Amino acid sequence: MKNYRKGQPIRIALTLNGQQRSGVCESRTLLSDFLRHDLGATGTHVGCEHGVCGACTVRIDGVAQRACMTLAVQVEDRRIDTVEGLNRGQDRLSDLQEAFRRNHALQCGFCTAGILMSCADYLERKPDPSELEVREMLSGHLCRCTGYTNIVMAVLETAAARNGRPVGATPAADKPGQAGVGMPEQAKLVNA
Ligand code: FES
Ligand code: FES
Repeated sequence: MKNYRKGQPIRIALTLNGQQRSGVCESRTLLSDFLRHDLGATGTHVGCEHGVCGACTVRIDGVAQRACMTLAVQVEDRRIDTVEGLNRGQDRLSDLQEAFRRNHALQCGFCTAGILMSCADYLERKPDPSELEVREMLSGHLCRCTGYTNIVMAVLETAAARNGRPVGATPAADKPGQAGVGMPEQAKLVNA
């Protein structure tokens, strides 16, 4: 592990949304501040700065993590993905973003960038989650506007489309005995 002097300027190079970037920080600089203030990636929001709200979530080498709980010096030479890269440089929204838009899964949008990054990681590791699993995943995020129901709908709809199921079909992962099993997604979530 490298040693840094207090206040020493440190140049950090990393891959941000597929592009080589670098900037200068101090050893105490948070990744969230480095992204926003030094690299101009202001899509990553900062709420609590205590690892609670999830607003600052980015992907580090593919894994969703809190940027406010990570030091910039810890991501030297690593791959960082933020909401700005979610559509992979295309001129349209990703399927997940489009599902959020369709389902009105945001209001003020402050929490949305972090939630999208967690969902993007989660759906790669768990391509066909149940409603309960999605709700559990989202428990790491605070949204003060939506009541979560529309966010859950958007995530399930994305998973359904990626798995070739018509929107509204019950995910294979739902088991008898779980809340809402057997009901179409829309109906379950309206009752949530
Ligand atoms: S700002 Fe990082 S978890 Fe709230
Ligand atoms: S949409 Fe406003 S905090 Fe989530």
